Amino acid sequence: MDKVIGNLNGIDFTMGETLLELSYLVAALLFVFGLKLLSHPETARKGNLWAAGGMGLAMITTLLLHKNAAGEGIPLTNVWIIMAVIGVGSALGWGIARKIKMTAMPQLVSFYNATGGAASALVALLEYPNAKTGDVGSIFVTVLGLIIGSVAFSGSMIAYGKLDGKVGDITKPFMTYLNLVLLVFTFGLGAYIIFSPNQPADMIWAIYALLAFSLIYGVMFIMPIGGADMPVVISLLNAFTGIAAAMAGFIYSNQAMILGGILVGAAGMILTILMCRAMNRSLINVIIGAFGEGGTAIAHEQGTIKEITLSDAAILLSYSKKVVIIPGYGLAAAQAQHIAHELDTVLAGKDVDVRYAIHPVAGRMPGHMNVLLAEADVPYEKLIEMDDINPDMPNVDVAIVIGANDVVNPAAYDDPGSPIFGMPIINAHLAKNIIVMKRGMGKGYAGIENYLFFNNKTRMLFGNAKDSLQKLVTEIKSI
Ligand code: TAP
Repeated sequence: MDKVIGNLNGIDFTMGETLLELSYLVAALLFVFGLKLLSHPETARKGNLWAAGGMGLAMITTLLLHKNAAGEGIPLTNVWIIMAVIGVGSALGWGIARKIKMTAMPQLVSFYNATGGAASALVALLEYPNAKTGDVGSIFVTVLGLIIGSVAFSGSMIAYGKLDGKVGDITKPFMTYLNLVLLVFTFGLGAYIIFSPNQPADMIWAIYALLAFSLIYGVMFIMPIGGADMPVVISLLNAFTGIAAAMAGFIYSNQAMILGGILVGAAGMILTILMCRAMNRSLINVIIGAFGEGGTAIAHEQGTIKEITLSDAAILLSYSKKVVIIPGYGLAAAQAQHIAHELDTVLAGKDVDVRYAIHPVAGRMPGHMNVLLAEADVPYEKLIEMDDINPDMPNVDVAIVIGANDVVNPAAYDDPGSPIFGMPIINAHLAKNIIVMKRGMGKGYAGIENYLFFNNKTRMLFGNAKDSLQKLVTEIKSI
């Protein structure tokens, strides 16, 4: 393996090194292929496995083939320790992921983010003393890896606490300024470490101070952000973890780590931007602002609310040709996904074409509706994305809005003063009839009135979504 088999730009390379680099290339291809498969619910599971296979390959070949500058491999004792740690980590990850409830998924992602950030920060902390004095490039990536990894760790732990209802929001206006000062101070200290003429051994105090400031900043950064905005923030922190891992990859000049980190960073950043766009909010607004801070909403003329009885709703649905179910946060809160699926099966038995309209930010986490409906075994082909279903909405006989509010609010089109103006919505208002199922006149996440409920074509079926659906299904079966 150590036989020199070639020379590139005056540097000899051995069989082992070549195999290692090739395995990293294969791992990188597997990561990209895995990411591609992750873009569809049907192939996502396979995508995860392919990407994990790539990571497994990179780990095994590194353990077997990696050599240091002196040409020595990883000492056998270390190989055993690393394998033991990988074994324990994998067993824990496997056990936790199997047990975790679908609804606690965001917490789990947040926790994994935190561990990724912590690992990258530890790499930077341990490798800093080995940096060469004045080697600005390698000290730069070490400092950046430490800052970003620590912020991702402490920020993700706070996000975890908020999602789990253990940590509340602290939204004091002065915190924005305090955070700005802390950020400037943290990066100032980082710059001091990078450009210091002192030996790294004499700067250990500074690197630990940087760790402390970065950890505090992570907490302070997430603390004021509203609990319901956590999905966007988790995606952002996920991007941070990826960037920190890429920095750790630069420290070790390890291509697999650099590429894996960059892919995670880029994917996290793209998801963050897409979520902000689907909510029609800027990232800055999510971080320091809140919903409801838009201009003054137009005073709509308030119509009357019309209710529908269970039997009328059952008859209307049974004699329709095309029905579209629009699920939202209330469906998740009521855990009504199974009974919603029963409704679509019963209607399909009466030759009614039933589809689900999926808004990208319906619910409270990315893909919330897809996950819920997949859990209830609703076939993927029945889930139609907003842009694909909207052109067909005028041909729909009945749109059933189940626990959704903001994602069907027409103020997004016609009220420039509304905080959701410009947000893409599902065009429920264009359907021939609209049935809205919710408990009362409670507002949605954005905290604003929805004039769809006062529309002439709309009739309300008040009650908990699960109870109402259960009664409706019984009624339809009796027709
Ligand atoms: P929302 O606008 O939050 O409306 C949910 C509605 O469900 C409420 O109006 C509520 O009315 C009703 N409801 C609650 N519990 C119910 C139950 N047990 N049975 C029946 N109805 C119930 O939901 P949406 O339309 O899905 O919109 C999502 C919002 O969250 C958007 O503003 C989006 O920007 C935001 N958001 C989403 C994400 C992601 S990534 N998905 C992340 C952060 C924020 P009643 O109280 O009258 O029942």
